[in-house]
Amino acid sequence: MNELVWHKSTINQKNRNKLLNQKPFVLWFTGLSASGKSTLSNIVEHKMHNMNYKTYLLDGDNVRHGLNNDLGFDEASRVENIRRVGEVAKLFLDAGVVTFAAFVSPYLKDRENTKDIVGAQNFVEVYVNTSIEECERRDVKGLYKKARAGEIKNMTGIDAPYEPPIHPDIEIVTEKMTIEKSVKQIVKYIKNKITLKNE
Ligand code: ADX
Repeated sequence: MNELVWHKSTINQKNRNKLLNQKPFVLWFTGLSASGKSTLSNIVEHKMHNMNYKTYLLDGDNVRHGLNNDLGFDEASRVENIRRVGEVAKLFLDAGVVTFAAFVSPYLKDRENTKDIVGAQNFVEVYVNTSIEECERRDVKGLYKKARAGEIKNMTGIDAPYEPPIHPDIEIVTEKMTIEKSVKQIVKYIKNKITLKNE
């Protein structure tokens, strides 16, 4: 790919930020399936939207219907899934959009890699910490039941690993906190970050 040349556009991120009047970043939700990532990211996005911020939500289940519909759940596929999403998030960021991403993203290394792709200062990691017991009890999509029955393989938390964040920017322990309180905690954290300062 060495023969490719990067074309610098005349409009840069700074111009876009100014027009949109916001400082974009990526809010990355990680946690087990049924931990509450989609629920939380949806509500937080809704709140930010109502405050007039320009947002977009990339959600694992949805992205896997389109861009990543060629990928499964073996380790290599998950690595590629997160790599692509990281690159997409980078483009959204460049476009000036506050980007929410809700992916199991079970590997520490992949989340670190995403942080490198989008830039550490633009990456906020939200650990949606719900125990496997509670996720399995909720089993909204019936996947844990299927995994226990051996009908699906590589289910995160059952026969595939989940590596929790070591120093997440935000940790939501869903079993100990109401949704309202969790949302408040996240919104409080990002409100300062989103404000466009004189660059
Ligand atoms: S990731 O591990 O590659 O980040 P991603 O967030 O895109 O996963 O997709 C996870 C979603 O796919 C889950 O919410 C669940 O609905 C579905 N799913 C299907 N099979 C599995 C599996 N084996 N492990 C985890 N999630 C699965």
